[in-house]
Amino acid sequence: MSTRILASSTLVGRSLFQLGERFPELCIAPYRSIAWKAGLPSAEALVVLLSEPITEADLKLAPQLKAIGTYSVGTNHLPVEACIQRGIRIVNTPGVLTEATADLALTLLLALTRRVSEGEALVRSGAWKGWAPEQLLGTSLSGKICGILGSGPIGRAFAKRVWALGMRPIFWDRDGRNHPVDFGAGIAKRLPLKELLHLSSVLSLHCPLTDQTRGILDRRMLGLLPTGAILINTARGGVLDESAALEKLHTGSLGGVGLDVYEGEPRLNPAWFTAPNAVLLPHLGSATRETREAMAQLLCDGLAQALS
Ligand code: DGY
Repeated sequence: MSTRILASSTLVGRSLFQLGERFPELCIAPYRSIAWKAGLPSAEALVVLLSEPITEADLKLAPQLKAIGTYSVGTNHLPVEACIQRGIRIVNTPGVLTEATADLALTLLLALTRRVSEGEALVRSGAWKGWAPEQLLGTSLSGKICGILGSGPIGRAFAKRVWALGMRPIFWDRDGRNHPVDFGAGIAKRLPLKELLHLSSVLSLHCPLTDQTRGILDRRMLGLLPTGAILINTARGGVLDESAALEKLHTGSLGGVGLDVYEGEPRLNPAWFTAPNAVLLPHLGSATRETREAMAQLLCDGLAQALS
């Protein structure tokens, strides 16, 4: 039987239901299983999650392929250049997860600077003895500078949020542009990376993972941040040298790290489990019901268009 659309079985719930309704010829198989491999030669579309890479070798096994759908905005797990060359459409989910991801970056920032995890643990332990002048003191954000890597929709939405807290956002962009960024609530400077790092009490990552941004925040670059700076990553783990971040957290040159994404996730560098001043989430950036529903809708519409 021919397989027009081959979807990974990790697509569950709303996303799979929508795909099934729209494409009755949908074939669902565990990613990289024997059934998956058997479906490649006749597949016109593949549908995967961000944790399921498609390689150039896979493309060679799928001569009929017209589209790859990914239930994510990020496309760093796909062979983008090879797809362009073969005229294979990549269908991802831009736009609909902007606000949710910016919200989560802000959640990490506030949780870190107001010591939310420690406070909650204290209350739940039953050991809280009452209000005390120096108990769990955090850091104020108002008046501080927030460096943002990436001036795309999510970076700009995050800028709007920190602006509302009284912070001053500044941007860096991988394409070297230097004109100011209009983030909706105001206009912010776009600076060279080193200059931005020197100024940023808070640094939040919102750039895609590309050859240009992989490992861009290495030990040397992290060393340019002011002592005690807070680092937030809701973009991709590969942008940050996590070992260097851990080292700087232990020496206090970083004041706090908030992560939603990790190099090699879901396997974490075990040093994170006991890292001080860190808030760690399991890749929840787009995890609201409304957002995931909108992502499923966009993916289905995009695939239908790509195959029509
Ligand atoms: C994406 O869509 O790329 C996000 O990382 C999912 O949360």
